[in-house]
Amino acid sequence: MEFTVNSLTADKQQSSCLVSGIFEKGKLSASAEHIDKASGGMLSAILQRGDLEGKPGQTLLLYNVANIASERVLLVGLGEEQEFGDQQYRDAVAKSVSAVNELGCADLCSYLPELPVKARDLAWKVRQAVEVANTTLYRFEQLKSKPPNARHALQRVVLALPAGSDVRTAEQAVTQGQAISAGITLVKNLGNLPGNICTPGYLADQARQLQKQYGVKTTVLEQADMESLGMGALLSVARGSHEPPKLITIEYNGGKKGAAPVALVGKGITFDSGGISIKPAAAMDEMKFDMCGAASVLGTIKAIAEMKLPLNVVGVIPSAENLPGGSATKPGDIVTSLSGQTIEILNTDAEGRLILCDALTYTERFNPAAVIDIATLTGACVIALGNHASGLMSNNDALAAELLEAGTYTGDRAWQLPLWEDYQKPLESNFADMANVGGREAGAITGASFLARYTKKFHWAHLDIAGTAWKTGKEKGATGRPMALLTQFLINRCRNQR
Ligand code: BES
Ligand code: MN
Ligand code: ZN
Repeated sequence: MEFTVNSLTADKQQSSCLVSGIFEKGKLSASAEHIDKASGGMLSAILQRGDLEGKPGQTLLLYNVANIASERVLLVGLGEEQEFGDQQYRDAVAKSVSAVNELGCADLCSYLPELPVKARDLAWKVRQAVEVANTTLYRFEQLKSKPPNARHALQRVVLALPAGSDVRTAEQAVTQGQAISAGITLVKNLGNLPGNICTPGYLADQARQLQKQYGVKTTVLEQADMESLGMGALLSVARGSHEPPKLITIEYNGGKKGAAPVALVGKGITFDSGGISIKPAAAMDEMKFDMCGAASVLGTIKAIAEMKLPLNVVGVIPSAENLPGGSATKPGDIVTSLSGQTIEILNTDAEGRLILCDALTYTERFNPAAVIDIATLTGACVIALGNHASGLMSNNDALAAELLEAGTYTGDRAWQLPLWEDYQKPLESNFADMANVGGREAGAITGASFLARYTKKFHWAHLDIAGTAWKTGKEKGATGRPMALLTQFLINRCRNQR
């Protein structure tokens, strides 16, 4: 979709549909006030009659409004003015975009960026409008033989700025919003693709595609390479499948030559059946989403490459398919990880930590400034936080704080859980240096505690996105999370560097 900004008054906008907000109790937004005056009090009359209360989610469509150059006016309810915050703003954008799209209009002009959102500036509002509009119109229809909505109606959005706004700042926010949207779309598309298409080899091809498009440096380690390096943990997960595993690295060098990169390590299990410790059949299809960590790394690199962010970033993606089979790893098997530490695999369904531990050790060679791993790691994290927040665990509180802040700013929130030594105990093994599972208690932290044994040499944070990466039920599909959080974290890092 195409986005432009201008600061014309509402009467002069020539669009298929103007979008203007109304607060509860009939309080008009600035543009609504303007439309009301121009039309000789049409909006006040409507509100007086009680046809629109301004409740969140309410809309009212008007035609032929006097002295308004646009063909239609869509009034959008905003709720109480004092309660108008980040989420209310996003909801209003989403509601107006889907309403105008359903009308079949090819363009709209929105005055929502004029609204006062607590503690947010114009750049935030413009960027969010772009991201929310793109997200609202996203559909995954590439695998339908007859796409129902091959192309959505809405193609162009004008964001109207209050008089005297800094147009350049707003235009930069549009550019950023578009780059982030492109990244989010990639994350969703990869997540939504089924396991028979999105294999480890497919993810490797996606990384090579980024090399072609943006000149990043993509390297793919094959099974034989991993064998000679000694990645026994990663390899153990792939043994039950005919799909060969891949270890993908993508180096984006937008920063100073030689400056330590931020490393993003994404879990890329393209299907998780559980292996010999097989999962129950119900909802097992959703385990195609077990590569959403990997997808968020690819999406983030795409977005920062689009934005030409002045920072060095390396993406590392261990990828495999976890299936039972004649050569599959069995409960009780012991493997040697790249770090030299041995692991007793008591449950083959705790495979994410096995591929990640070798990838994390491999990441040492980049001398990273910080390492973030992103993984659909534990069902326990979904129990703890639901689908509202990603679980965050870190060996460095300053790094954790940076990630939490990026999450709040973007609405892609995370919540920190403790990572004390106390949680290491359940991972002790009678036969190897550690087991790959502990008990049922504190499962999300136990998973992170396992990874903590491989991340002692750098500042590290772990994002458990098992609850946030996709939605189940009627709206089943990848959400794109936590790509917005990650990108914002990197944007903030650049700012603090300078
Ligand atoms: N990919 C799953 C985690 C998962 C499960 C995410 C359900 C979202 C919904 C992971 O590989 C897994 O199976 N984890 C096990 C760990 C356990 C065996 C310690 C789990 O959570 O049950
Ligand atoms: Mn599993
Ligand atoms: Zn898994």
